[in-house]
This record gives sequence, structure tokens and C-alpha cells, in this order.
Amino acid sequence: MRTLDLIIKKRSKERLSKEEIRFLVDGYTKGEVPDYQMSAFLMAVYFQGMDEQEASDLTEAMLYSGDVLDLSQIKGIKIDKHSTGGVGDKTSLVVGPLLASLGIKVAKMSGRGLGHTGGTLDKLESIPGYRIQLDETSFIRQVNEIGIALVGQTQELVPADKKLYALRDVTGTVESIPLIASSIMSKKLASGADVISLDVKVGSGAFMKNVESATKLAELMVQIGKRFGKKISAVLTNMDEPLGFAVGNSLEVIEAIQTLNGHGPKDFTELCLELAGHTLVDAQIAGNLEEAKKMLLAQIANKEGLYTLKKLVEAQGGDGDYILHPDRFTPAKYQKQILSGSTGYVHHIDALAIGNAAMLLGAGRAKMGDEIDHSVGIVLSCKVGDFVQKNDVIATIYSNREDVFAEEKMIAEAFCFQKDPTSSKLILKVVK
Ligand code: URA
Repeated sequence: MRTLDLIIKKRSKERLSKEEIRFLVDGYTKGEVPDYQMSAFLMAVYFQGMDEQEASDLTEAMLYSGDVLDLSQIKGIKIDKHSTGGVGDKTSLVVGPLLASLGIKVAKMSGRGLGHTGGTLDKLESIPGYRIQLDETSFIRQVNEIGIALVGQTQELVPADKKLYALRDVTGTVESIPLIASSIMSKKLASGADVISLDVKVGSGAFMKNVESATKLAELMVQIGKRFGKKISAVLTNMDEPLGFAVGNSLEVIEAIQTLNGHGPKDFTELCLELAGHTLVDAQIAGNLEEAKKMLLAQIANKEGLYTLKKLVEAQGGDGDYILHPDRFTPAKYQKQILSGSTGYVHHIDALAIGNAAMLLGAGRAKMGDEIDHSVGIVLSCKVGDFVQKNDVIATIYSNREDVFAEEKMIAEAFCFQKDPTSSKLILKVVK
């Protein structure tokens, strides 16, 4: 087999066999296929696509490029969730503890933030002492004992995706449905869960800009999951504004704690209930979504979700008192309010711009390995549909430097107003 022939085959819109896909993925992972040929192949896939069988074969080749976690030592149903990357997205911090408090096993490997999107690990590390690395034995023991572990992905899991993703990032081939689906699904399958819940973001701040393309991505991931014998559902959610009010690491942890106390933002709470609800139905713990949501609301009312988050933090070396007393998080040195320049209804809040402003403040990374500042970020004062008068506060910047002129401008410009009332729908579609 020759790499060149496979590039030409895909460029000519022909189907590749399982063996051909495995040849490319294995060869690239081992360093036998050079970057320039893999780049050409990825671009051919970007333009010509892949059918479901090819995407599934690509997922499988990536999945077996490294270790696959064996979670058979964990008793009970194991779940995992994944979001395609949002701004203000702290759902894992709420969904994980809520499900664990109901007896489901949450053995979750999360990622770090890059660019305008935040990462669960960075959020958790804003809690003093929290350790994101556990060896496999401790990881399994902790999930068996307290029902949940939230850790970083090991180097050995899906090495092909690490190399391929880095190459896609610099060759303009990230936004390809089969490449995104196989990248996400190989990691979800390698981490060994029985039930998988996916949150596919749609909108200006997301990879998928419209419902049609997001539906295709969701359907492909669900089909791949089913081929591997998983219970899987995907929820398409609107990213035409940040999720909740808080964007930035410790600010988002505080908002997650408020949500587990029953005082979370409406949209964020709704998304957590929807994602966790489908998991409960797929895991056959609840008969339907309505029943599942009632169970979850009860775990918020009796604070069991909150206590489970505290247990998780303590098990991983963090100070659990922060969960009961979030006022202990050190606030950023400067707070700057942003005032509205217009009167009207909020029609749209550009999540990408808010995410980028938070990154510039130090809450995120422009490139891998950048240091982040856990205390900084942005807290919105209004959401899409709210009526705002000129000079009302629309957001507050939390910063450790005094000059935030550039960020202030970006945030103010992210708000779009209109004269007439508007409303926004968060849950756009469910794919099962
Ligand atoms: N997230 C991933 O893990 N992979 C992609 O390709 C896109 C988003």
C-alpha cells in the first residue's frame, strides 16, 4: 500500500477500506507517514468527506492507536459526557456530581481549554490543591468509592488524535464532520464508558454554525457510538450567547456551586438537566426525560449533588470547604463594569468574542502550555431576551491588571440589541 495512492483515491471521492484507513493512521502515529502527506489526506477528506463506514473505521483505527481503558473493575453503569466546546460551559461540574449522587459511575477524563473555549481541568484547578492526575488504579478505586473522578487524559490514550488534531489545527482541516466525529468518538470510546451523552454546540462560537451541519455531526457520532455497542444521545444546543453568566475559571466554579445549590442561571440549569436527564434514561434509571429531571431536581434540593462535588474535590486533594463557602475564592484585583451604549432587547451576545476577551484577560490560552489566571474573567449581567436601558451594567470584567481597555471594547461590541422583544431557544434538537 502507498500513502500517495490513498490520497489520490480520497481526492477522487472514492471510499477507503478499513485496512487502508488503518495503514494511514498507524503509519502516521508511528512517524512513517510524513506530515505533508497526512496534511494532503486530511484536506482530501475535508473536501470529499467520508461515509459512515469510513468514519467508523477511522474512529476504530484511532481508538486502537494507544491504550483503551478497562473499566470492568468499576461496579455499575459508567457514563461519560462530552461537549464540542463552548463559552461558559461548566456542565461537567454539575452533571457529573448529580449523576454520581444517583449511583451512576462517572469516570471522566476532561481536557484543558484552548483559545476561546474553557476546559474542565482548568476550572477544577482553581480550587486549591485539586490534582488532575490519578494513576489508573487510584482512578478506578475512587470511582468505586465515591462514584466520580474527573481527571486529565493520559498521554497513552488515543495518541493518533493528539498528532492528527495538532496537524488539523495548522492545516485548516478542523471543521470537517467525519474528522471531528472520529476525533471525539475515539476518545470517548477509549475511556470505556457504557453510556455517552454529547452536547453539540451550534452558533457563532461553535464549530458547527447551523442546525443542519450540527445534526449531521450529531447523527454521525451517535451512529459510531451505536456501532461500538454504546447507549448514546446527542443534544444540539444554542451557542448564540455564552452559557450562564460567568466565563472564567473560578467564576465558573462558583456558578456551578450556585447551580448545585438550586440558584443557577436558567439556561445553564436547563442544559444540565437535559444532558443528565438523557443519561438517566439511556442508563435505564429513569423511564422518561420528565421523570429523570424530577430525580435530578430532588438531588439539587437535598444538596446531594453539592456534597458529591465536595467529596470529589477532597478525594483529588482539593480543599472541599471552597465548595460550601465559595466566597473563599480569591477575587481578581480589579472589577470594571461595562455599561450599555443602547436601550433595547438583547438579541445576541457573541460567545466567540466573550470567550476571546476572557482569554486575553488571562482566563484561557492563546497556545498550548500558556499559563492561566484562575481568578479572572467576565460575568454577564443580562442574557438574550432581557430589556436593557442605556448605561445599565451589562457585564463586569474581573482582571488582575488595571488596563482592560481592549477587552472592554470587545465585550461591549459583543452585545447586539434590537427594539422588539426576542427569545432564544437553548435546546435545539435531540439525536438518539
Ligand atoms: N473536539 C475534539 O476533540 N476533536 C475535534 O476534532 C473537534 C473538537
